[in-house]
Amino acid sequence: MTDTQRRRLLTALAAAAGVAAAAPFAWRQLRGGTRTAASTASVAAPAASPAQRFIEPLRIPGREGLMAELPLSRAGTLTAQASRFQVLAGADTEVWHYAAEHEGRRLANPLLRARRGEAIDLQLHNRLTEVTTVHWHGLALDEANDGSGLHPLPAGAHQRIRYTVRDRAGLYWYHAHPHHRTGRQLQMGLAGLLMVEDEEELALRERLGLAWGERDLPLMLADKQVDAGNAITYKDCADDWIGNRMLVNWTPEPYLDVVPGLYRFRIANVCNARMLRPAFVHDGQPLPMQLLGVDGGLLAQPWPMDDLFLAPAQRVDVLVDFGGIAAGEHVMLRSLDYAAMENEDESGAFAGDPIADHPGAVPMGGALDIMQLRVQAGDGVPLHRAFDALPARLAELPALPDTAGWPVRDLRLRMDSEGRWFINDWNFNDTGHEPVFSVRRGSREIWELRNAMTSMPHPIHLHGFPFRVLSRAISPPDVRGRAVAEGGRGPQDMGYCDTVVVWPGEVVRIAIDFSQPFTGTQRYMLHCHNLEHEDMGMMLTFAVTD
Ligand code: C2O
Ligand code: CU
Repeated sequence: MTDTQRRRLLTALAAAAGVAAAAPFAWRQLRGGTRTAASTASVAAPAASPAQRFIEPLRIPGREGLMAELPLSRAGTLTAQASRFQVLAGADTEVWHYAAEHEGRRLANPLLRARRGEAIDLQLHNRLTEVTTVHWHGLALDEANDGSGLHPLPAGAHQRIRYTVRDRAGLYWYHAHPHHRTGRQLQMGLAGLLMVEDEEELALRERLGLAWGERDLPLMLADKQVDAGNAITYKDCADDWIGNRMLVNWTPEPYLDVVPGLYRFRIANVCNARMLRPAFVHDGQPLPMQLLGVDGGLLAQPWPMDDLFLAPAQRVDVLVDFGGIAAGEHVMLRSLDYAAMENEDESGAFAGDPIADHPGAVPMGGALDIMQLRVQAGDGVPLHRAFDALPARLAELPALPDTAGWPVRDLRLRMDSEGRWFINDWNFNDTGHEPVFSVRRGSREIWELRNAMTSMPHPIHLHGFPFRVLSRAISPPDVRGRAVAEGGRGPQDMGYCDTVVVWPGEVVRIAIDFSQPFTGTQRYMLHCHNLEHEDMGMMLTFAVTD
């Protein structure tokens, strides 16, 4: 760190101390005095005690209740509402969710399934006491149906949503997105998965022979800060909202019985702010995985990995082989520890996460046990040994475009001396829904995302247009070490993405094709998917015009 940078940090600290009480979006990451005071005042730390963990079987999407399966084309009405569910041992928990009814069954935050090309027509009904939306994260939709904060639905109101699913097969998701309330509404539960299928995906499934719901499973990971009464808590204008309980498919720290063979997991990080580094650990060693897909579906070829970084909003499709493991042994789905790089500063003034609001939570970057896999005897079960069943070519993926001559748009990610997050000089609390720039429909651009050195990792999400990662430069060692292709790209950069992590100091170039079948001006958002950063204004609106 240079002296100038250090001086800036000290100035920032002093400034933040001065404005913390007055400014609504002031940087709350103050360390030292305030932190000690807050943590002594905090009550019981209801983290999962060892005895509470791995005693509940993983929820497998079923026919009723939380995460039950539902064809998107038959969703009818999704009602945003609050009800109580048995999530943790003891008292029920109030969960804000999208409720649906289908053939007499009641579903909550259903796992929606859609075929590519399918036409969707549904209603959103808001039965909360505040505005909400449903944003179809990763789908390329028009402004009216995107569900971003541009068109919040008032309490009590209805809205018709109509679109065609044009996107590649893959795991997408949906969640609430009203500005200033996104963090709270997601933490309270308003999120679910959307699986898009097409011929290519179904052919791969057939070839792998792993039954959906048995050996091909979605894992929706979400940490929640839960109090001693099992209530999910949230604080507006807080920093990174990390939690003391880790839910997988709405089951706290579950276990899953597995046969000693191949499994396919579609993993989504639905945490507000927690970056995960998932690995399947056996005997202290990560089991080898094969990465099949990312946000926007299948990669051209599988890539071997031991662990990966999964930021909020990102998804991966991985194969894991439990084949060599003896019956009775356990594997842990663990988020390995990593350097969180939060405002990294050797003085310690910026280190760590303020735990005061999150009693019992593992700090950002700390190792976290998510789910236990218990290997059963495999007699009579047809097993795939190793990854032999995998075709060398998974999907038709267009080659990386030749971007020579494409215009480059600079986007700097930074924090000002008052602790407000910015993209260039824009903070959404100032700019609002007014587009800060326009792009021509059908044009193609390179966006260069540059993160400040003394910053945090920002998972940057673009609405409306899946993009390709072109290059990474000045990456931290743990990211650089993962490169498998020119431009410093790692395995997760090898497909279509809608969210990309930009680490402190890093420069990430993405290629975007602004072609779309819509007309007129369509507005979209670009923002950090650390939802506390987003709600604090690390977001902008841009327009696509004819
Ligand atoms: Cu998943 Cu703009 O969000
Ligand atoms: Cu951020």
